Formats: sequence, C-alpha cells, structure tokens
Amino acid sequence: MPQILEHATATTVFDREDASEHPHEQVIFCEDAATGLQAIIGIHSTVRGPALGGTRFYPYPDQGAALTDVLRLSRGMTYKAAVAGVDLGGGKAVIIGDPNRIKTPGLLRAYGRFIDTLGGRYISAGDVGTNTADLDIIGEVTNHVVGRSARTGGSGDSAPMTALGVFQSMRAAADSIWRAPSLAGRTVGVEGLGKVGTELVALLHADGARIVVADVDPDAVRRVRDRFPDVSVAAHVLGADLDVYAPCALGGTLTTDTASTLTARIVCGAANNQLWTPDVEQILTDRGVVWVPDYVANAGGLIQVAGELRRASAERIRTEVDAIYDTVSSLLEQSRTESILPGRAADRIAEERIWSARGA
Ligand code: NAI
Repeated sequence: MPQILEHATATTVFDREDASEHPHEQVIFCEDAATGLQAIIGIHSTVRGPALGGTRFYPYPDQGAALTDVLRLSRGMTYKAAVAGVDLGGGKAVIIGDPNRIKTPGLLRAYGRFIDTLGGRYISAGDVGTNTADLDIIGEVTNHVVGRSARTGGSGDSAPMTALGVFQSMRAAADSIWRAPSLAGRTVGVEGLGKVGTELVALLHADGARIVVADVDPDAVRRVRDRFPDVSVAAHVLGADLDVYAPCALGGTLTTDTASTLTARIVCGAANNQLWTPDVEQILTDRGVVWVPDYVANAGGLIQVAGELRRASAERIRTEVDAIYDTVSSLLEQSRTESILPGRAADRIAEERIWSARGA
C-alpha cells in the first residue's frame, strides 16, 4: 500500500472550459504540507496505453497558470505518442515552485507516492526542472517512473534522444526546402541551452551548421561556449538573421508578431506548444516558413522511455528515433500535396490512431 504522508490530499477535478475543448480523463491535485509539495497530474487519455509524460518543476505565478499548462501539455502527449506510434496515452504533471529553492528528496518522494496511488495510469518522465537524479528519488517510492539512471535500471536522460529527433526533423525540413538533408552552412538559432538545446548544438556543430545561441542563464551560455567556442551568442535568437529557428526553452514564443518578423525558413525545436495561438501556423505558412509540429519533432525522448518500458536495446531505440526523419518528410509531403498545414496533417494522423484504438 502506498504510504501517504499526513496532511496529503488528492482531489480529482475537471476544468469545464478546457474539458469541452480537450476532454481529460482525470486531473489530480496533490498537496503535501510537510514538504510544501503542490503538484497537478493531468491524465488526458489512456485509450492507447498508460498516460506517460514528464514532470515539469516550475515557479508558476499561480495554480491557474499551472493547470492551464498541465492540461495543454498532457493533451499534447496523447498526440505525440499516437504519431510516434508508441502504445502509450498522454499525461503530464507539474510541480509548482522554484526547483532551485524548494526541491528536496522529501518533496520528490511525497510526489512519487501520489504517482503510485494511480496504479500505473500515469507514468512520469523528466521535463523542465527535473532530471535523472530526481527521477531516481521518485523511483524509490513508485515503479511508475521512467528516464531513471542506468544504475537504477532506467535508460537515463532522455534529452540526447529528444535532440536527435529534433535534428532528424530539421534535416527532413531542410530537404523539403533546400533539397539537401543537411544543415551545413545554414544558420541555426538555438533558444535555450538546457539538456536538449546543448545536445542539439553538438549535433548541429558536427553537421557543419553556423550556430547562434541564447539562454537567460549566463552559466548555460558559458558551458556551451566552452565546448563550442565558434558559436555566436545573441540576446534574443528570434531577432537574429536565421535559416532555422530552434525553440528549445519554453513554449509560446511564436506569436502573431514574432511569426511576422521571423527571418528563418524553418521552425523546428524541442519546446512544447510553440505556437502562442493556432492561427500563428497560417502566418508562418503564408510567409513560406515550414513549421515542424513540436510534438512530432520532440518525440525522441518519449520513444526512448517507451523503449525502456519494453526493454528495447539502445540500438533499436536509436533506429526508431532516426525514423522521425521519415515521419516529418511524409507529413510535409502531405501538407504540400493536400494544401493543409503541417500541424493539421500531424493531428489527423494522431486522431485516426486514437479513434481506431477506441474502436470508433
Ligand atoms: P531544461 O530545463 O534543461 O532547459 C531549458 C533551458 O531554457 C534552460 O537552460 C533555461 O535557462 C532556458 N530558458 C528558459 N527561458 C528562456 C528564455 N526565455 N530564453 C532563452 N532560454 C531560456 O529543459 P530541456 O529538458 O532542455 O527541455 C527544453 C524544452 O524541450 C522544454 O520546453 C521541454 O518541455 C521540451 N522537451 C524536452 C524533452 C526532454 O527529453 N528533455 C522531451 C520533449 C520536450
């Protein structure tokens, strides 16, 4: 039996407005007064399998902002898993607070106990603000966590495979525009030099790209400059002269304003929910910019942890992540031949697979 700390409470609610648009199966609020834990777990769908998604640890201004984020992110995971072809549903969790201030082993264990009460309906991985060491601690109290270190039987940090999937997506988009599946000689702006952004810089560097980077954390910039002295640093990547824009920090950077002034021909990055509003994709398309849907490009980490669940080899997982290239090529081809937006083409594949799993 899970051992829930005293004062811990969990309630299930539905947000009416969001439920009408994107119904969620279950949303769980978790609080633990002893450790200061405040978390929300969103289970969007278990139709294709257990709801898997990372835990984001972030200083949201209030609970409403956290709820909005977890609802959008968990829905995105359902679509991501469906397009990636893994037998998983969609879920996500957020822990409210500044991880640098409040993250403790006790808080992570309290959170893990909440995950455990769900009996495997939700499986956590890492996300912004959580890392492999945190997942190891959560894994002390629940088996329903992936992306743990190899020492504890996990497949390790998912960022390298996420970055590989983004890189393959970018190559496919480059081929669709420039008839060459390479970023050699192209200027790529990488926004966010965290776990994924740094790995992406390494892949782009090896491919011969010119790289412009930005991060709000000067230490993150310094670490990348130490490894790759020839990268350029910008205050804001979006304002730079680019061939490719790779958002790898947080979502929502593509607004009607930024989409109207962006110099890049390709947008392809790891961040979830890159479009501030759905109409931004049309603005990009009208300007001849190819947007690779975020949840298709960033599925590498999900493919890795899905492989971990079925004990697939590292080689097998890498082959599946490399195949994101083919998925993106096919999406962009459908978009071109049927005159539909790439985001619509991706959603259509996901929805067909979800409906067929429902038996509809
Ligand atoms: P991270 O937390 O390691 O790195 C994020 C970086 O972005 C940090 O260095 C932070 O200082 C920087 N940043 C924050 N705000 C910024 C801003 N306004 N401008 C520039 N830089 C800013 O996160 P990670 O794991 O690298 O993930 C990056 C993105 O990719 C996130 O949106 C995440 O949800 C998404 N993602 C990550 C996956 C993974 O396997 N880690 C899988 C799928 C998506």
